[in-house]
Amino acid sequence: MNRVKLRFADLEIEFTDRDRGIKQIYEWVERGIRFPLVVFGPEGCGKTAWLKQSIEVLRGLGFEVIYIDPLRKDYIAHTSVESIIRKLAEAAAEAIGIAQIKLATLSIDLVKELISVWNKKRIAILIDEVFQAIGLDKAEIYVKGLLGLIEYPPVNYEKLIAIVATSEGVTRWRIGRHRWANLMPMWNMPKKGFEELYEKIPSPKPLFEEVWELTSGNPGMLSQLYQAKWDLNVIVKNMIEDKKLTPIFINKWRSWLEKAIEDPDVLWDPNVPEDLINELEVKNLIVYFIRDRDLELWIDIPPPERDLELGIGKRVAWQTPLHREAVKRALTEI
Ligand SMILES: Nc1ncnc2c1ncn2[C@@H]1O[C@H](COP(=O)(O)OP(=O)(O)OP(=O)(O)O)[C@@H](O)[C@H]1O
Ligand SMILES: [Mg+2]
Repeated sequence: MNRVKLRFADLEIEFTDRDRGIKQIYEWVERGIRFPLVVFGPEGCGKTAWLKQSIEVLRGLGFEVIYIDPLRKDYIAHTSVESIIRKLAEAAAEAIGIAQIKLATLSIDLVKELISVWNKKRIAILIDEVFQAIGLDKAEIYVKGLLGLIEYPPVNYEKLIAIVATSEGVTRWRIGRHRWANLMPMWNMPKKGFEELYEKIPSPKPLFEEVWELTSGNPGMLSQLYQAKWDLNVIVKNMIEDKKLTPIFINKWRSWLEKAIEDPDVLWDPNVPEDLINELEVKNLIVYFIRDRDLELWIDIPPPERDLELGIGKRVAWQTPLHREAVKRALTEI
């Protein structure tokens, strides 16, 4: 399998590890899928990288593949149907805002077109962060549209794979209400694979164990740390601002947050106000209601059962130790 080259800060790094996550693509192709797959996971855990590697895998299996990243106005079309490539290019060339919506809505129509032109072929549609482009309130309708493609294709096809990735934890609850998709979580990278990625970053750099304890295997955080010349204060300060950890927020939830810093499973307590959970999820600080660590239920490798050093509880986890650190710092400074 050809490993794709990915942008990593100012470097170009080959797709690393995630062996099981890649093997799963082969299995889904073999078995066929009955539902669109919606992949969710912490910010920067590597969803986009995995989708991009999947493009290669699917191509190798004889698929016509369309990958669309509406937010970044990015697309990759491996198809011999020229009208599809032209339509994608036209949509991406539109003004900012319009291009995002056009690319997102076009995705379903283009697959229909592809199916009708390429009768009985293998077709894959991979869409990155589409819900942010169309608005979270339209997530359900979008997924239903994808399901329609699988259930009622315009003509016969051999295999159709539809995968959507999202870092918006809250969309999970909207989509999960219906049986329109197979929701699959993805976690940060496992330690061994993450170390392989760390090795590809030029020195000077802190020891691997230190980086692991800060990032818990999150490649996006690794990239940010590298860009900040390993100054974690920069990351934490930015995060306090970006996540809007204001005195109002901190003081409103101080006592729960102080406990959650020690053990995120405290947030599983039935006495915790739902508003707090919602706010922490919308801010992408935690992952809530983590499912059993059954391999079959996860893309690639699930997180450990519980690892308080890394801020991972059985049912609730900080997205990375640096997310926890930002809250901890806000609690002491505000
Ligand atoms: N397996 C991997 N091998 C090499 N680089 C990776 C891997 N996974 C992720 N990266 C790199 O780490 C960074 C963050 O990953 P990526 O953008 O895929 O995460 P994400 O989950 O899509 O994040 P977001 O939630 O922000 O969309 C990127 O530079 C990406 O190329
Ligand atoms: Mg992404």
